[in-house]
Amino acid sequence: MSKKIFSGVQPTGNLHLGNYLGAIKNFVELNNEKENDCIFCVVDLHAITIKQDKNELKSNIRETAATFIASGIDPSKSIIFNQSKVQAHAEASWILSCTAPMGWLNRMTQFKEKAGKDKEKASVGLYIYPVLMASDILLYDTSHVPVGEDQKQHLELTRDIAQKFNKEFICDDFFKVPEPLIKKNFSRIMSLKDGLKKMSKSDPSGLSRINLTDTKDEIVNKIRKAKTDSFPIPNIEKELNDRPEAENLLGIYSSISNQTLEKTLDEFGGKNFSFFKNELAEILSSKISPISGEIKKLIHDRQYLDNILLEGAEKAESIAGKKIKEIKKIIGF
Ligand code: AMP
Ligand code: TRP
Repeated sequence: MSKKIFSGVQPTGNLHLGNYLGAIKNFVELNNEKENDCIFCVVDLHAITIKQDKNELKSNIRETAATFIASGIDPSKSIIFNQSKVQAHAEASWILSCTAPMGWLNRMTQFKEKAGKDKEKASVGLYIYPVLMASDILLYDTSHVPVGEDQKQHLELTRDIAQKFNKEFICDDFFKVPEPLIKKNFSRIMSLKDGLKKMSKSDPSGLSRINLTDTKDEIVNKIRKAKTDSFPIPNIEKELNDRPEAENLLGIYSSISNQTLEKTLDEFGGKNFSFFKNELAEILSSKISPISGEIKKLIHDRQYLDNILLEGAEKAESIAGKKIKEIKKIIGF
């Protein structure tokens, strides 16, 4: 059955293996299914909820688009654009912020994590960030949203906002209620230095993540230095309980090789980590290096990237522009 796919990635630099395995790799698979209509958005309005350097933001927008294309998203099949080019996102976000109760937003754990101890200093934008995300999704009658596990709560909020709006304005199926597409396994890739912490763009330790622009030598070095424990690799999944670093590395291997964790344990059970790490570094560099090479090539071709983003924005505008008009009519403007 054909799906209407929408997802977004923030142009905040350092796109990493977690972004790839949790999100972008799935984008590529969905792009490759002939019958799907896919939209992949560089969510630059979301990025400015935290202070950005003007020039870095500009180049990160292009680099995120380049990463989509280098990973295998075909811009002639899927729409790639940056959010700030389509006005309807900001407009719908205001309107939906009048539907979403504060109580729902107060429950969002990502805000609590990102705002840290001093919530008073966090921007209002960071607080209502999930409403902008809901607008992104709902403007395009999205049926499915591929994301990593950390976005699950935001998707539940999106569904709740859609249903509340439909009910309040008595317009039954006006907003389509989207389904999350979160891979059961490996949708949460952890730091290479701490198996209890998410792999993240903002981790101060560069050794905690593999960036999609890393060279083969950097990948080998980071995997060699990744934290493990002193036990051999077990044969069964249950024995990975309480071994988060081991579980994470074996999960990364399984995900990048498109196989189950069970199969990986069949392959490596009883072996030690130094052997396994060589194999992991090998497969990671064979999959990541071509992407990394392509990103580096594409970012020099600004004109090409700007054209893709411009064409994408025109297509997105033609869909979102209609929807926002209907929204305004429904609420009485
Ligand atoms: P962001 O970079 O925060 O815009 O995230 C872009 C996409 O990558 C979202 O779908 C996230 O859920 C996903 N993602 C980010 N970090 C991870 C991670 N460590 N493991 C799995 N998915 C992730
Ligand atoms: N909030 C998402 C993240 O930080 C990015 C995002 C913004 C998004 N809008 C979206 C993801 C719409 C999916 C759909 O990762």
